[in-house]
Amino acid sequence: MAIELAPLPLPPSADASKFVDFGREVKGVNPGTLSSEQLEEIRQLLYKHDALLFRNADLSPEQQYALTKAFDPASESYGHGNNKTGKQAKSILHPDLKTIPRVPQVQLIGNGPTPAHEGLSPVQLKHPSHTTFHKTHTTSPDTTRFYRWHIDAALYALSPPKVTTLYGIRVPQGPHQRCLYDDGTGDELDVPLGTTAFVSGKTMFDILPPDLKSVAVRAKVRYAPHPYVWMAPAHAMSTGLGIESEGLELSLEELPEWSEEAIKTYPVTWKNPVTGNLHFQVHPCGVQELLIEPLPAGASREGALYPDGAHLKDLKEVRELLYKMQRPAIAPKLVYPHDWKEKDLVLFHNRGVLHSVVGQFAPDQLRMFHQCNLAASDEPVGPTAEDVKAYA
Ligand SMILES: [Fe+2]
Repeated sequence: MAIELAPLPLPPSADASKFVDFGREVKGVNPGTLSSEQLEEIRQLLYKHDALLFRNADLSPEQQYALTKAFDPASESYGHGNNKTGKQAKSILHPDLKTIPRVPQVQLIGNGPTPAHEGLSPVQLKHPSHTTFHKTHTTSPDTTRFYRWHIDAALYALSPPKVTTLYGIRVPQGPHQRCLYDDGTGDELDVPLGTTAFVSGKTMFDILPPDLKSVAVRAKVRYAPHPYVWMAPAHAMSTGLGIESEGLELSLEELPEWSEEAIKTYPVTWKNPVTGNLHFQVHPCGVQELLIEPLPAGASREGALYPDGAHLKDLKEVRELLYKMQRPAIAPKLVYPHDWKEKDLVLFHNRGVLHSVVGQFAPDQLRMFHQCNLAASDEPVGPTAEDVKAYA
């Protein structure tokens, strides 16, 4: 059968004009048994549209791993690695993950008391919630917050996965919740219970004013060593977009053993390998420093920020500049909150979008998802010299 495409079901809150290229439902094919020609077509579509939805998919963990690997055949290990020992046990990621023994690249995530499943013993899963991570939280049962806007990536030693696949096996139904930004703007978003929220990194770049676009194409971020351990004692902003600067991060001496070579420094904007577009791809929680190149020869200095370049090391200053650049793109009208149905499979371009867990479940509400992403075999590519010239 031929691949057919339909738009994603946008909520009334979304500005449809900003989602013309973003997201497609793929129909007419079974994602577990795609031919190599179909896989190539899906690969192109993913980079063009950043998120693909298959409804009513039947997908074993083996098939999900194979599908995920098809986007980067030389990749092999789970995107965060599977090391949960020693000082790594402090990482804030660990409570979220249960590994399928047969296919260790696929993780069971969710909420509630799971039955024995794919070789895993029954376990009580806990949906990540802003109530454990934010400086302040909402208490009313009909309100929630974004948990953490992020890229799926270890941000240390391993390269950011190209694609993440998320497969909904059990999806509890319940009333919508109001996702509050609580940052003084009054922004809020109506969300289905337990939604995964997505924003486009391309839009995040496109809507910046020229002075910040210039910074974005000239800047690199340096992540902390073992960033999820480093940030563990810290608190998230009310919007889930980064961390409050309270000096709570672990000192470098308290971290698991680390080496300078394994630290990741990435361009702020990543070039889409199919469209050539620039996507603003920064995981704000893990960033320690910002390195900004001077303006290229011939660029106008008028109104330019950091015309001679800069190396920002003050965490508060680094975070404030990133927040200024990223916050506009999580405005309610720019968020796609996916309304999960059982057997939905979502593939997202992990190097082209940011996403966040949202919502709170009661302890007995059963949610079971399979998640797979693979540490990539190469590093993201930043803007070309022409891109820098065009935007600087
Ligand atoms: Fe994620």
